[in-house]
Amino acid sequence: MVDQTVNVTLTEDTKQKPVAEQLEFGRVFTDHMFIMDYIEGKGWHNPRIVPYQPVTLDPAAIVFHYGQTVFEGLKAYVTKDGEARLFRPEKNMQRLNRSNERMCIPHLDEDVALNAIKQLVSLERDWIPTAPGTSLYIRPFIISTESYLGVAPSKTYQFLVILSPVGAYYKEGINPVKIAVEDEFVRAVKGGTGEAKTAGNYASSLKAQELVSDKGYAQVLWLDGLEKKYIEEVGSMNVFFKINGEVVTPALNGSILEGVTRNSVIRLLNHWDIPVAERKISMEEVYEAYEKGLLEEAFGAGTAAVISPIGELSWKGEQLIINDRVTGSVSKRLYDTLTGIQYGTEEDPFGWIE
Ligand code: COI
Repeated sequence: MVDQTVNVTLTEDTKQKPVAEQLEFGRVFTDHMFIMDYIEGKGWHNPRIVPYQPVTLDPAAIVFHYGQTVFEGLKAYVTKDGEARLFRPEKNMQRLNRSNERMCIPHLDEDVALNAIKQLVSLERDWIPTAPGTSLYIRPFIISTESYLGVAPSKTYQFLVILSPVGAYYKEGINPVKIAVEDEFVRAVKGGTGEAKTAGNYASSLKAQELVSDKGYAQVLWLDGLEKKYIEEVGSMNVFFKINGEVVTPALNGSILEGVTRNSVIRLLNHWDIPVAERKISMEEVYEAYEKGLLEEAFGAGTAAVISPIGELSWKGEQLIINDRVTGSVSKRLYDTLTGIQYGTEEDPFGWIE
């Protein structure tokens, strides 16, 4: 890091802020963004906040051809004391560097990156929506910018942060969604890039998503890439099942993303003395539990949706209706507690808000 002073250029043309009730996820962006450059030999330099604007790159930039890029997602809230706060942002900065490692992108100083985010959020403080279910989504990302068509790590990069006031990720909000178990396509394989937050994982998920959404499903449930037997994730979230009183989530295995919300759910369940296990779980096991009447709840967990209950799972021609398509008590308690901590209306026993 050559120079850590963030140069700020303010916009002369502020945008109209959206009406909270009309907010979707990720369609509107604030007035400013953060950029910092990297050149091999010089390191990360020239941190700056500038008016929100297009990024101009050479058409041969590596990111366009080989997808050498990583991103993060976290949220800012205005808590009841009127302060702008972030939820466990250091976890996102640590994961950003783990993704960097996998994608051969130079590490960022986590404090420098987090301070940049805080400075940008504080400048855009008035963009943080306050209606229930809304927040300011923060999207830090790194792109490889060298013009080169050989397959090799770039020698130049940009780190950017953009901000988007958001409403619910799914139109269903906290209401249960319909999910189809995916038995043809896979999202990731062991040894691949599944545990990195990199564009290719999301690009490769689109086809399955497109096919099931035509049939009325919100997302797919991903199975492992080898046997298509063990459950990995749901859509772009981690997944949990409550079976006979115990909450089970697939153990991290190299192809599953280590979610910040996943970790927060496990910590809360432990705190409440609700049994929770991180282990392999197959679709057969879920089906058997369903047949015996022991499948009590299922839900996805991620930054964007927080908790997204699953009301119906379609698998091999069978429709598994979970908890009568009603949000279960553990899913609801987790959603209320996590969002309560985020908005500052609930006690924060772990010091997650900063
Ligand atoms: C999340 O649930 O936080 C995600 O990663 C979804 C995001 C790709 C929109």
